[in-house]
Amino acid sequence: MCGIVGVVGNSNATDILLQGLEKLEYRGYDSAGIFVTAGDKTALIKSVGRIADLRDKVGNQELGDRGIGHTRWATHGKPLEENAHPHQSETGRLTLVHNGVIENYAELKEDYLAGHHFNGQTDTEVAVHLIGKFVEEDGLDTLSAFRQALQLIKGSYAFALIDKEDADTIYVAKNKSPLLIGVGQGYNMVCSDAMAMIRETNQYMEIHDQELVVLTKDSVSVQDYSGNSLEREAYTAELDLSDIGKGTYPHYMLKEIDEQPSVMRKLISTYADANGNMAVDPAIVKAVQEADRLYIIAAGTSYHAGFASKQFLEELTDTPVELGIASEWGYGMPLLSQKPLFIFLTQSGETADSRQVLVKVNELGLPSLTITNVPGSTLSREASHTMLLHAGPEISVASTKAYTAQIATMAFLAKAVGQANNNTKAAAFDVVHELSLVAQSIEASLSDKEMIANKVEELLSTARNAFYIGRGNDYYVAMEAALKLKEISYIQCEGFAAGELKHGTISLIEDGTPVIALMSNNSILAPHVRGNVAEVAARGAHVLTIVEEGINKEDDDIVVSSVHPYLSSIAMVIPTQLVAYYASLQRGLDVDKPRNLAKSVTVE
Ligand code: F6R
Repeated sequence: MCGIVGVVGNSNATDILLQGLEKLEYRGYDSAGIFVTAGDKTALIKSVGRIADLRDKVGNQELGDRGIGHTRWATHGKPLEENAHPHQSETGRLTLVHNGVIENYAELKEDYLAGHHFNGQTDTEVAVHLIGKFVEEDGLDTLSAFRQALQLIKGSYAFALIDKEDADTIYVAKNKSPLLIGVGQGYNMVCSDAMAMIRETNQYMEIHDQELVVLTKDSVSVQDYSGNSLEREAYTAELDLSDIGKGTYPHYMLKEIDEQPSVMRKLISTYADANGNMAVDPAIVKAVQEADRLYIIAAGTSYHAGFASKQFLEELTDTPVELGIASEWGYGMPLLSQKPLFIFLTQSGETADSRQVLVKVNELGLPSLTITNVPGSTLSREASHTMLLHAGPEISVASTKAYTAQIATMAFLAKAVGQANNNTKAAAFDVVHELSLVAQSIEASLSDKEMIANKVEELLSTARNAFYIGRGNDYYVAMEAALKLKEISYIQCEGFAAGELKHGTISLIEDGTPVIALMSNNSILAPHVRGNVAEVAARGAHVLTIVEEGINKEDDDIVVSSVHPYLSSIAMVIPTQLVAYYASLQRGLDVDKPRNLAKSVTVE
């Protein structure tokens, strides 16, 4: 999704902006641009497509010591150069980049900007014209004009604004969209994602909603919209530059798939002590103990991780678990229980749909827990409690290690609560031992990459559609596996409850339709899935089986080494991640940056 980077007071501004935008590429975008100034010289360069195209256009000429850059993921207006940011005011004096969606841009245009000429269709251009009108037509200084516009603008935004007549400043404001200040030595930065600043600094400052920041090379002034100064301390981020590199890997996705055994081990060392005792924050354990129902709110892959955790959470905490799709719950909550606890599962901690639910939960004064990979992210800051996934930055758009880390983190939470409640199943579930077996199972699956790549070639090289089927937890894995396959290979794929096929969808099975059947080690369910496999095979389906050791048969295709049933989703998903990876690779697609998608979905 859109990304912002800005820098003031560094003579390498152009390069810092381009490198920052490259670091934001993983979030998904369709066009990009930068604006740089040096004294009274300015340059505005935009391009549709990759940052590499923008770099070519910039060449070596455009030097500056202050600038703002943007990657755009189209919402209002097509991905064309005239819609790419930065945008400028009527006279060109002010230049703005924006993430988010301005809900009342049409009204603002009509009420304030009659006679203005617009180059494109974006809401952002309306915003910069509005600020520009207050400066250029009404004679306000830039700060007052910005403040006045912020009082009128409704919606979500992260703004970075430059006035070319004010040589030393970047003006910044945010509401609902992420934005951070980076504090450098003799210069300062602003960015929508810490990762784009990590080369320059690890000292960051948060900006909260409805705050405005005046940034110069040696000062950061945080204010509310009435102009009152606010105190803000910088903090040191724990990000490591090497975490965000690809190393020798051809793609981030493959690197992140391979990192999963070490993520499991990292979680063991974080959430258990050397004696195997749980090291989960007692306040979080208490919050779960006090709840009469757990509401897991999430989107996409994180939503699937919620389902994969539901059974063990219920059994170990003795508390019913309900799942909510964030984008649905933001607009209508069902009847809640008396003592709900909301659990937000989110890799990025920035998903606008999930945040919208959290805002409602906070308005209702209800307790919440965010489980996220990104410390300091919006959902982490705004929830009552946070548990971290410790998976390291996930750069590939297709989420892999965050999904498995979410299930493992939930397992620690469930075990800690179960233990505190003297739940007998919790006493019998040695989560540390079981997760170390999971790490080994993942390693075994990862050592079979070549075999999986060959199977994928046989099964999917000409496929336009496919099915994953499973029962119980395997059904939830099927949902995740199908999402992964479709998002990066563009093969239409459905994850289906195996027994439900015959109630309608089996009519889609024809000669050669790929069906991938998942069977974890469940003696009640597996024979039924075998029956469903026979049904689709009889109708011409090309079947591939992924089966957990213990119930495997000689002609099964991929055998996964056995783990505790609570954690089978982690082990079973690994081959499906590789299926998606190789299907995308074999089709010559951009594995890490699939079309139309964004890593961090910061619009509703
Ligand atoms: C798919 C994927 C998405 C995210 C979803 C929620 O591979 O990554 O479906 O899971 O956009 O994002 P987070 O977890 O950041 O809230």
